[in-house]
Amino acid sequence: RNPLANIRSSAELAEGIASPLAQKNINDIICQVDRMSRWVRELLVSLRPASDTAEAVDLVAAIEDTHQAFAQQIERNGVHFSFEGPHMLWVASQPLQLTQILNSLFSNALEAMPKGGVLHAQVSVQEGQRAQLVLSDTGKGMSQQQERMVFKPFFTTKQGGLGVGLALVKRIMERFGGSVSLSSREEEGTRVSLTFNIAAGEDHGAQHPGS
Ligand SMILES: Nc1ncnc2c1ncn2[C@@H]1O[C@H](COP(=O)(O)OP(=O)(O)O)[C@@H](O)[C@H]1O
Ligand SMILES: [Mg+2]
Repeated sequence: RNPLANIRSSAELAEGIASPLAQKNINDIICQVDRMSRWVRELLVSLRPASDTAEAVDLVAAIEDTHQAFAQQIERNGVHFSFEGPHMLWVASQPLQLTQILNSLFSNALEAMPKGGVLHAQVSVQEGQRAQLVLSDTGKGMSQQQERMVFKPFFTTKQGGLGVGLALVKRIMERFGGSVSLSSREEEGTRVSLTFNIAAGEDHGAQHPGS
């Protein structure tokens, strides 16, 4: 077991027998350990060594997988999800990293729409062998001042937030020759646009049967 999991389970055990006064401190320990674990997980994914070679990844399938993974939370928040785009589109990235990116963006969008809204994903082919994903939400949005800060590591407006999500999205996108931009309006929503290189080679569908 990793040390963080160890600290967590010891704290849980202590919580069961501690005095009411100590309970709050123990609860703090558990919350902070969870925060640290999330952070470590994000960092590990972003720092994986063999991560510089791009592979062909089906962007559309990855979006659908992420949608499935968040289905419960989407329903619980009263969010309507819609997708517009081709049935598949192979882009230059890495499966794990792309999942990481989409998880971050879906989390942010859902966290911005606690009382429901619309999450829309639109995939399109652009000029010059580029592909674009635009993910827009109708959440709380942000001020212009915040908008300028969002890609800075550790910038967060959330209690217990890590502020590494978008910084990593940017880093990963740039690593594979892509880019990310964000535009937002307070009380209206946020739009994140990702640009990928379309994967080199043809007929990726045949190389990835069943995808
Ligand atoms: N879809 C969104 N809607 C509103 N604000 C957002 C959205 N995505 C990101 N933000 C803002 O950008 C900040 C940084 O996001 P991120 O890097 O993912 O860190 P975290 O989610 O841990 O705060 C958030 O705290 C929030 O203020
Ligand atoms: Mg986030």
